[in-house]
Amino acid sequence: MLVSPSLLAADFANLKPDLEMINNSDADYLHIDVMDGVFVPNISFGFPLIEAVKKVCQKPLDVHLMIVEPQKWVTQIRDSGAYIMNVHLEACLHLDRTVHLIHEAGMKAGVTLNPATPVSLLEDIIDQVDLILLMSVNPGFGAQRFIDNTLRKVKELRSLIKTSNSRALIEVDGGINEYTGKLLAQAGADILVSGSFIFNSSNPLERISSLKALS
Ligand code: DX5
Ligand code: ZN
Repeated sequence: MLVSPSLLAADFANLKPDLEMINNSDADYLHIDVMDGVFVPNISFGFPLIEAVKKVCQKPLDVHLMIVEPQKWVTQIRDSGAYIMNVHLEACLHLDRTVHLIHEAGMKAGVTLNPATPVSLLEDIIDQVDLILLMSVNPGFGAQRFIDNTLRKVKELRSLIKTSNSRALIEVDGGINEYTGKLLAQAGADILVSGSFIFNSSNPLERISSLKALS
């Protein structure tokens, strides 16, 4: 299993030790949640923080944009150090164009679905993208309860990827712990995002390893 710890649950007043913990961990990425107060009912942080994190973090940055009109920020997201740029399908009027812009900027392109958005809407973009991020909570906040129908959506997406000969990885975000992570692994997920389960622990390295070990 690939693991992407979510920075949202780290200690913002003292990020360096948390970033060094991530560097020393088995984590594959660092997940970065950008919120604009319009697409989601919360505001997190923007470019200066991502740039500062990039200077310390040795893991590739998996940036999840919970913002309207994400196509306006492709260059800045790339320049701030993103490896993957995830945009919400619900926020993109011209998703095909946005995915191409992300690739032209040299990043991996991810498309994200809210819990109530059906997997079938991905049919005409699935062969263009590197990753699909399925939200297993309504985006905007950490530490929410996992929505069970995500398991069915992961299975449906796995089958769509197969029939479309797509290379897309399946990432899932929200309410993930060892228990929900195991169910997601069995359903066919490739990458687990996890915030509070990892950072609200006295042994975050062990929690990352426990998610890594899921299959
Ligand atoms: C929610 C964010 C998540 C969040 C996950 O809008 O996209 O990445 O940090 O946090 P947990 O793992 O605590 O549900
Ligand atoms: Zn996220």
